Amino acid sequence: MLAGNSIGKEFVVTTFGESHGKKVGVVVDGCPAGVPFSEKDVQPELDKRIPPQLKIVSGRIEKDKVEILSGVFNGFTTGAPIAMLVANKEADSSDYEVIKDLPRPGHADYPVRLKYGGFNDYRGGGRFSGRVTVALIMAGAVAKKLLAAFNVDVLAYTKSIGNVRLDNSLSPEEVRKRRYKTSVRCPDLACAKAMEEAIVNARKEGDSLGGIIECIGLNVPVGVGEPLFDALDTDIAKILLAVPAVKGVEFGAGFAAAQLKGSKNNDVYRMRGSKVVALTNNAGGILGGLSSGMPIVVRVSVKPTSSITKEQLTVNLSLMENAEIKVGGRHDPCVVPKAVPVVEAALAITLADHMIRAGVIPKVLKEKK
Ligand SMILES: Cc1cc2nc3c(=O)[nH]c(=O)nc-3n(C[C@H](O)[C@H](O)[C@H](O)COP(=O)(O)O)c2cc1C
Repeated sequence: MLAGNSIGKEFVVTTFGESHGKKVGVVVDGCPAGVPFSEKDVQPELDKRIPPQLKIVSGRIEKDKVEILSGVFNGFTTGAPIAMLVANKEADSSDYEVIKDLPRPGHADYPVRLKYGGFNDYRGGGRFSGRVTVALIMAGAVAKKLLAAFNVDVLAYTKSIGNVRLDNSLSPEEVRKRRYKTSVRCPDLACAKAMEEAIVNARKEGDSLGGIIECIGLNVPVGVGEPLFDALDTDIAKILLAVPAVKGVEFGAGFAAAQLKGSKNNDVYRMRGSKVVALTNNAGGILGGLSSGMPIVVRVSVKPTSSITKEQLTVNLSLMENAEIKVGGRHDPCVVPKAVPVVEAALAITLADHMIRAGVIPKVLKEKK
């Protein structure tokens, strides 16, 4: 691959690795010195990726164990690049030989083969696999630890899967407590059950489902973001759209704001003691590309998994003739549950980058005694 594997200006995240290569890894450059950090901060984040309920995820269960190679000394970040790796141990490339010349409809296979002249590692989708999001999770673990020192928290959860939607509004505490208790990462237990059933049924039909993930950023101070082109919402949207299968991003009222009148959409201000507060949050915590002090609320739309066992039309790129494909191998019937911690990591990475850029986070957390 050529350039395009790094993101961020001060907290710079560079990822590498393919689905069936030896390892997947990340280098985080620009993390301030003095952040307490070890494998113990990364491992629980990696473990959140795989819901324990096998019936709603692919059969490829990687017991990812993180290895930190650099940038951490005596339990603290040093300010040097932090490199982290996990091994790919459970890859099975046999199913991909059969479909090597048959691009999966909805997957990246066709444009990738043309762009890279057939040299790309096609096994498991190669660099275009959901597997590479492991790197974002590891970088996100650093970002979350850094943000925690400034009382900033990020929380993602599943809002909908297929037609099953969580409409109750839950407090951040409820979301924090319950989202990882359910296989689908939805904090409402009844709703989660209906979502799980929908996934199981879609899989039985050889099909797949998509959904919506909501992510909240709490306690981000006012004024973070660098308009115009490095505005906070611009950069958050960029990293989220880089997550495979994410097709849409909206903030606050999002697309629904298009149907509101200004008087309903405006988040009006009031004084609460000496504090300025907005009574609603249709803006999703960002105005003019700057954090407004309200919670950042962003939602992503995740498409249904493209690799399905139902027969579909495709072409044979070696013979240049029409063909049919039933995608074998181990695929998630819905990628939403696995993408929840990825979305959370992505928001944390961008907030860390922008809080450093805004001068809210210093280069050294505090002097060593
Ligand atoms: C965590 C995660 C797991 C994924 N697992 C699969 C999978 O098992 N099968 C599949 O076809 N796509 C999977 N995807 C989605 C593809 O990687 C993605 O659709 C593909 O790279 C094409 O990119 P696009 O959908 O963003 O256009 C996964 C995505 C994520 C985030």
